[in-house]
Amino acid sequence: MADLDAVTGAFSFTGRFIARRLLADGRRVRTLTNHPRRPGAEGMDVEVAPLQFSNRDVVVESLRGVDVLYNTYWIRFPHSGLDFGDAVDNTRTLMSAAVEAGVRKVVHISVSNPSPDSPLDYYAGKARTEAVVRESGLAWAVVRPTLIFGDGDILINNIAWLLRRVPFFFVPGNGAYRVQPVAGEEVADIAVWAAEHDGITVDAAGPDILSYAELVDSVAIAIHHTRPIVFTPPAFTLLAGRAVGRFVKDVILTPQELEGLMQELLVSAEPPLGRKRLDDWLLRSSDTLGMSYASELDRHFR
Ligand SMILES: NC(=O)c1ccc[n+]([C@@H]2O[C@H](COP(=O)([O-])OP(=O)(O)OC[C@H]3O[C@@H](n4cnc5c(N)ncnc54)[C@H](OP(=O)(O)O)[C@@H]3O)[C@@H](O)[C@H]2O)c1
Repeated sequence: MADLDAVTGAFSFTGRFIARRLLADGRRVRTLTNHPRRPGAEGMDVEVAPLQFSNRDVVVESLRGVDVLYNTYWIRFPHSGLDFGDAVDNTRTLMSAAVEAGVRKVVHISVSNPSPDSPLDYYAGKARTEAVVRESGLAWAVVRPTLIFGDGDILINNIAWLLRRVPFFFVPGNGAYRVQPVAGEEVADIAVWAAEHDGITVDAAGPDILSYAELVDSVAIAIHHTRPIVFTPPAFTLLAGRAVGRFVKDVILTPQELEGLMQELLVSAEPPLGRKRLDDWLLRSSDTLGMSYASELDRHFR
């Protein structure tokens, strides 16, 4: 068995946790990425190859000699002519290139509660990528995280960023819908564990289930910026989010993300495998969390 694994996005968010875990285990890591110079990348001893789907031969070459491919590739929302259907097609290209390159196994990072019948394209698309992986001919495992927290996250960081700047915080609906955050390190642990188990599909979820309003409160307490919460109709929150988005030149929250959140799709029905508590990370990160805005468009579309 080769001692080389591939991780998409080792300098991005989830992939960085996986790459770090593999390096700590003594594995060699090659990343497929379009952002080889992200801050902190220089300190990681990782080979770099392009994440380029337009030329399948390049993808095949990028994957030669690889034992396990950890696939985090996905898009958060359609933008700049790239939609979820394209991301499914790109996943298909990645899988067929992995087969041709002789990769032994893929560990595919999906999301909690994907469904081919979901009216939400993100969740329906993720279900389609899972099918692509299962039908690829590779040995496979699927890991389905809930809401991932850890250094480099976007959602929780930007809640903190807003709390540091606004006099009150808009929460869509009644804020009682729940989330079950999981630590990025533990998503990586579960992914590496899954690499040893063929044909499994497993949620990656943390020990705490809390309401979205409680999540906002927890962030506010950790960064010492408690604010009155104003419960608003979801459409109003989205409008407010769009206004802030224009200011920061980003997409803060899409209607489908909000719908998924309110449908509690970021809660697992399985006993949690994660042990790390969100509160501990929030308190450890209180000096840095939300100090600067984390832009999805800057990360992936500019
Ligand atoms: N973040 C969460 O809380 C969360 C929760 C549940 C499930 N997940 C799943 O976990 C996986 C990783 O999510 P993440 O948030 O950690 O993503 P990420 O690290 O920001 O991106 C993952 C990979 O996808 C590539 N990518 C992302 N957007 C792209 C775009 N618009 N065009 C081209 N490439 C793009 C990145 O490319 P670069 O290497 O060039 O950056 C990276 O290789 C995804 O499958 C996601 O569905 C995430």
